[in-house]
Amino acid sequence: MPPVDQPISLTRYLIEEQRAGHVSADLRLLIEVVARACKTISVAVGKGALGGVLGDAGTGNVQGEAQKKLDVIANDVLLEANAWGGHLAGLASEEMEHSQPIPDVYPRGNYLLLFDPLDGSSNIDVNVSVGTIFSVLRCPEGVTTPEDAHFLQAGCDQVAAGYCVYGPSTTLILTVGHGVHQFTLDREQGSFVLTTRSMTVPEETKEFAINMSNKRHWEAPMQQYVDDLLIGREGPRGKDFNMRWIASMVADVHRILTRGGVFIYPWDKKDPGKPGKLRLMYEANPMSLLIEQAGGAATNGRMRILDITPDQLHQRVPVFLGSKKEVEAATRYHLEHD
Ligand code: AHG
Ligand code: MN
Ligand code: MN
Ligand code: MN
Repeated sequence: MPPVDQPISLTRYLIEEQRAGHVSADLRLLIEVVARACKTISVAVGKGALGGVLGDAGTGNVQGEAQKKLDVIANDVLLEANAWGGHLAGLASEEMEHSQPIPDVYPRGNYLLLFDPLDGSSNIDVNVSVGTIFSVLRCPEGVTTPEDAHFLQAGCDQVAAGYCVYGPSTTLILTVGHGVHQFTLDREQGSFVLTTRSMTVPEETKEFAINMSNKRHWEAPMQQYVDDLLIGREGPRGKDFNMRWIASMVADVHRILTRGGVFIYPWDKKDPGKPGKLRLMYEANPMSLLIEQAGGAATNGRMRILDITPDQLHQRVPVFLGSKKEVEAATRYHLEHD
């Protein structure tokens, strides 16, 4: 990936994208506001125990998960930051049962924002990287007060997607449909600076990210695929594989965007009503757009994730994403089994 010679701020990058006709003024403002909210979340995350932000909130969310204090804080920061700018018609979040239209007291814009305010929140108390994932859709023509149904658009209709990783450094990864670019937070200046232009995912890999403890709950072709990875060069795949699992999707996907790999959270039968753990609208769709924009692939084991027409806001989906050839191989195991 080519290094950037001159420091270019996120603001300048977005203005140049607007001049190139890739983003509207409202979309530019929207992304700036999300980035500003991520800076606030980054500060809260960075304070850790000193900020009193660790531990459980004592509440549950619509996903059936116990909320961490930082799940709630990050959600509130994103809601507040995005309420009054005039660029959005409504928001939806992993942490809220229903979407929210922008309050009547503010002007409404033409976009819908969806987010996973804090991804990997089980890692927060052990000081491991967490992040924020977001997705932007257009509000359907003529709709002034969007409801849940208006958010149910296929991932290929996203106009922008990104995530922020709160790790050793805070980085923002963004696509507006013209490649994937990485910005690093300059903590002294308080601004995101472009540090990697046009990230690309290598086509092939020898690294996989899967929570293997669920193996007994998987479908037969998924079990077979992993058995073949583990046999290594003596088996049908003809090479040895290495495994990594951070259990923060943002951090696992970030590794794959940086050096390749395949990330899989497959269908499992642990929770019969739910096909897998990850959420289509807040996790799978934005990450799939980023991975495809970087030359990788993303499927649900059978079809392209971005082509799925959602029927529920909090819908779950199996996720296979990363290096193209490896995603195709895992997908082939499923299709050949059907
Ligand atoms: P969230 O913290 O937003 O609920 O998401 C957690 C997700 C994802 O980040 C990660 O890949 C996965 O859960 C880890 O699941 P396991 O604990 O089952 O490995
Ligand atoms: Mn959660
Ligand atoms: Mn998540
Ligand atoms: Mn979350």
